[in-house]
Amino acid sequence: MKPRSIVSILDLSTEEINNLMDVADDIEKNPEKYQEKCRHKILSTIFFEPSTRTRLSFESAMLSLGGSVISTADSKSSSAAKGESVADTVKVISNYADIIAMRHPKEGAPVVAAMKATVPVINAGDGGHFHPTQTLADLLTIRRTKGTLSGLTIGLCGDLMFGRTVHSLIEAMLRYPGNNYILISPNELRLPEYMREELAKSGAVWEETTSLEYAIPKLDILYMTRVQKERFFNEEDYVRLKDTYILDEEKLRSAKTDLAILHPLPRVNEISVSVDEDPRAKYFYQTLCGKQMRMALIMMLLGIQ
Ligand code: CP
Repeated sequence: MKPRSIVSILDLSTEEINNLMDVADDIEKNPEKYQEKCRHKILSTIFFEPSTRTRLSFESAMLSLGGSVISTADSKSSSAAKGESVADTVKVISNYADIIAMRHPKEGAPVVAAMKATVPVINAGDGGHFHPTQTLADLLTIRRTKGTLSGLTIGLCGDLMFGRTVHSLIEAMLRYPGNNYILISPNELRLPEYMREELAKSGAVWEETTSLEYAIPKLDILYMTRVQKERFFNEEDYVRLKDTYILDEEKLRSAKTDLAILHPLPRVNEISVSVDEDPRAKYFYQTLCGKQMRMALIMMLLGIQ
């Protein structure tokens, strides 16, 4: 039988996502219970694009579960540089590891990997498409800071066109009732049409604006994103758009006192460093939530209770 892989957040039911968050909460309270859960299990991380958080948090997650990690740090140091296909790469790694976390610049590459591997594959980000485990981190951060995933007004700000974490987060939050969405972006970086259609079909209340100042007083969650330089076709457009939104203490004056500010990171200029000291800044805490959710997901896919 084909092992179960996670390519999109839609590969997980709402019940499974809620259960993963419950496990992550238990990991937070009782880390010692999980220290040996993946003993003798091996995770392979194969990243064909740069990463700090996702790769290292997957590796840290497996090590904290008592398992081991084998890794190709970048595509240049693997046989992909000699022209090996994704299909062949994952067939081979299936002989060496029990589970694979893969990042790839080509949208859809994890679908091919999931079809060809004989062990579970987790999409750790494919092009401008999806990043489901970042979404698991985001959901846990929201649930822990707001106490709910429903009835929230969520502002998504920045590069909504290429920001794959935004696409996965919207897909996930649409599962929870009563959320409103304010999409804040320059016209050139609007949410792609297929995602706007998803919002329209869902019946959710949503609007688009170019003004962060307009949106900020209404928000329970502000999800800032970086302009994705690596997805632009020309440098001139990137330079023109990269500093469109810079969140600083001045802009936060009109925000709710219990706003939660999230960012998948890495940050470039879009959040002023002075905001880091604001208790509403949750983006470094979000990285811890990511590790705990990846621990819960690895156990789930390996069938470990
Ligand atoms: N959030 C995120 O995907 O970060 P990395 O690119 O560092 O993995």
